[in-house]
Amino acid sequence: MASLTFTFFLMLISLSASLSEAGGSIGVNYGRVANDLPPPSKVVELLKNQGLNRVKLYDTDANVLTAFANSGIKVVVAMPNELLSSAAADQSFTDAWVKANISTFHPATQIEAIAVGNEVFANSNTTTKFLVPAMNNVYASLTKLNLDKDIKISSPIALSALETSFPISSGSFKPDLVEPVIEPMLNFLRRTGSYLMVNAYPFFAYSDNSDQISLDYALFKQNPGVVDSGNGLRYMNLLDAQIDAVYAAMSALNYNDVKITVTETGWPSKGDSNEIGAGEDNAASYNGNLVKRVLTETGTPLRPNDTLTVFLFALFNENQKPGPTSERNYGLFYPSEEKVYDIPLTLTEVNVNSSGVGKSQVPVNGNNGSTTSYNGETWCVASGNVGKEKLQGALDYACGEGGADCTPIQEGATCYNPNTLEAHASYAFNSYYQKNSRASGTCYFAGAAYVVTHPPKYGKCEFPTGY
Ligand SMILES: *[C@@H]1O[C@H](CO)[C@@H](O)[C@H](O)[C@H]1NC(C)=O
Ligand SMILES: *[C@@H]1O[C@H](CO)[C@@H](O)[C@H](O)[C@H]1NC(C)=O
Ligand SMILES: *[C@@H]1O[C@H](CO)[C@@H](O)[C@H](O)[C@H]1NC(C)=O
Ligand SMILES: *[C@@H]1O[C@H](CO)[C@@H](O)[C@H](O)[C@H]1NC(C)=O
Ligand SMILES: *[C@@H]1O[C@H](CO)[C@@H](O)[C@H](O)[C@H]1NC(C)=O
Repeated sequence: MASLTFTFFLMLISLSASLSEAGGSIGVNYGRVANDLPPPSKVVELLKNQGLNRVKLYDTDANVLTAFANSGIKVVVAMPNELLSSAAADQSFTDAWVKANISTFHPATQIEAIAVGNEVFANSNTTTKFLVPAMNNVYASLTKLNLDKDIKISSPIALSALETSFPISSGSFKPDLVEPVIEPMLNFLRRTGSYLMVNAYPFFAYSDNSDQISLDYALFKQNPGVVDSGNGLRYMNLLDAQIDAVYAAMSALNYNDVKITVTETGWPSKGDSNEIGAGEDNAASYNGNLVKRVLTETGTPLRPNDTLTVFLFALFNENQKPGPTSERNYGLFYPSEEKVYDIPLTLTEVNVNSSGVGKSQVPVNGNNGSTTSYNGETWCVASGNVGKEKLQGALDYACGEGGADCTPIQEGATCYNPNTLEAHASYAFNSYYQKNSRASGTCYFAGAAYVVTHPPKYGKCEFPTGY
């Protein structure tokens, strides 16, 4: 109990130390695929009352843009995917588009950026070839009106643009996208002083691999973290890992100077039965802890000096979105403007609710809620389908810095046979897991390992459960 109190005390000290530093910025996506939302003027008031001063739209709706005039709220607007081919084909098209959809409203409505398309290569690749030409034409049109310094141009990419994201430091883009679109786009962003927009959803990673990824790690709760075997950096949450995988992919192409803004991230408060992890408590934890992390901490392990700008997805539950139940339940608010759950959205609220009173979203103790809480004995083994490179990276880490006992898998020792990467990795992962008292997150290795409730069988090798 004494040590628990002490840990709590230390957390308060480090929290108040970090509060004085300038953190990042929180915005919200104002999606409107619904027939029951309040009028734009009321939405502007809602955002102001919540202390939110950044919003992202999915179009350039005139009523919405007018409502944000003189509101003090910065607005990111979007050119929909359907317009990319026209925008790429003809600069007179983008001239007219910018005139009708941007310069009519700006600067009374403070448009800070234009998202040209959304997740263009994730949806279909027929529009991919139009993306960078469209960005160039929109830029040229802004330049004519002297708006190119005020308004940045970018395009949100989905994480599916990555070929690899583990180890985090070896993140890379899909090879077939690099030359056609990634390099020209990064070049454009560098040339125009813009940034890469990234949509990142730890929810999907967790939901698809809930047996392998620690929920605490996904929800920014206390957890042992994940160490990158490439550079030894420790990640305390999945979103940071996802962002840095993109930074690593950019660095691999020598774009170390382009920054990232997270244009979408969120967690649904409801889902279908197969949408593991969807639910109100998890959504409140994810979004609440995310806001705290963004507003009170620095950048990511790879880019510690670049504080994060993150747009939450989304402002409202949107009842006309197709797809699984989760799609209609990402909102922070019901259309009635009532909160779906109560989380802090500003630094003031974070500070008030972190002072030890009230409910803190960050549990000080324990790993309860972890996906690996099993009362009987548990072991950790390697996942057979993550690829050789990923497995080798994790094995090297476990036996090296991780401090696993890897003597038995050396040549001639008891667990050398079967001499396969999977068997050796399993032995090492289990040793690491047991040495760390089976703590939540210690059988993860970025998805290369998972917990089993029966003793692993690899030849005559015995897997210890205690060290
Ligand atoms: C303004 O934007 C809307 C939607 O993006 C588009 O349909 C319309 O054609 C644009 N106006 C012009 C003049 O390009
Ligand atoms: C994308 O393009 C590749 C070839 O460039 C093609 O093989 C693939 O089927 C396309 N995918 C989609 C979704 O259009
Ligand atoms: C971050 O900034 C500090 C102080 O300006 C500097 O010493 C450090 O090298 C920077 N780190 C990175 C990764 O750029
Ligand atoms: C802060 O904590 C108080 C007391 O538990 C609670 O009533 C309030 O809703 C919390 N606010 C936020 C934004 O979490
Ligand atoms: C975890 O939950 C169990 C049962 O819900 C409880 O008995 C235990 O005290 C909790 N552990 C911690 C560290 O909170």
